[in-house]
Amino acid sequence: MGKSNRGGEAFEQLYHERFGVRWAELRAALLRSPGYCALEDGLTKTYYLDGASARSVTAVPLQAGDRVLDLCAAPGGKTLAVLSTAHTRATADRLELTANERSRTRRARLQRTLQEHLPAERAAAVRVTGHDARRWGLYEQEAYDHVIADVPCSAERHMLSAPAELARWSPARPKRLAIDGYAILSAAITAARAGGTVLYLTCALLEDENDAVIAKALQRFGRRVRVAPPAIGIGTPTQHGIQVLPDVDNDQGPLYIARLVKRS
Ligand SMILES: C[S@@+](CC[C@H](N)C(=O)[O-])C[C@H]1O[C@@H](n2cnc3c(N)ncnc32)[C@H](O)[C@@H]1O
Repeated sequence: MGKSNRGGEAFEQLYHERFGVRWAELRAALLRSPGYCALEDGLTKTYYLDGASARSVTAVPLQAGDRVLDLCAAPGGKTLAVLSTAHTRATADRLELTANERSRTRRARLQRTLQEHLPAERAAAVRVTGHDARRWGLYEQEAYDHVIADVPCSAERHMLSAPAELARWSPARPKRLAIDGYAILSAAITAARAGGTVLYLTCALLEDENDAVIAKALQRFGRRVRVAPPAIGIGTPTQHGIQVLPDVDNDQGPLYIARLVKRS
């Protein structure tokens, strides 16, 4: 076996171990096109994103005047989904929305997404920042009604269609991403006000980056937060959240979503 195949071989082995006979079906579903949905409400141009991602923001109980922080925002799908949902469920004009993205190039893409899909005054009203989300809690505490942590993750759907990246894959990757996800979730919990909501999302398959991260956060913040599983009308309940997987959810996902509410 050539060295360049080792990542792919190790990947297959781990996912087969975790999902057993289901892996073949799930793998095939990940290679099909995602189940896209068209976001239109409140937008000047249609934005297409995975149907489960679009639904996920309905787990945020938006009220006019709320302060919302999207910690990992590029390319902007959830930010637009929040505003599009608010268009019908609250008053988008009165949401105070901050969209953060650490990568300069991806932040430029986020800006373009907002400018191309929102009325000019609404795009201008979104505060775009470029901080390391893991450190946000050091600077702002108890400041937002809702914090969305759509964290960097294994993104197996993308990985399977990127042979060069797959060849470099190792089991250390999901471990490292779970550590980052936990750090960003911790910052999100700190930044949310008492009574506020934290939405933790990944497009990862493994429990390590999903329920295990929530379990670790509950160990540290258990007195300050409670789990409030969202009802988004799709997916399978897990220990702390919901998982949408394309082999059983009409090609939508992968998406893991957990909702935490900060205790008053
Ligand atoms: C899963 S993507 C977000 C997708 C986005 N929410 C959407 O719906 O379109 C994760 C994003 O987090 C960014 N990111 C990774 N580490 C970060 C960090 N420490 N602080 C802020 N952003 C980070 C990545 O560059 C990437 O754009």
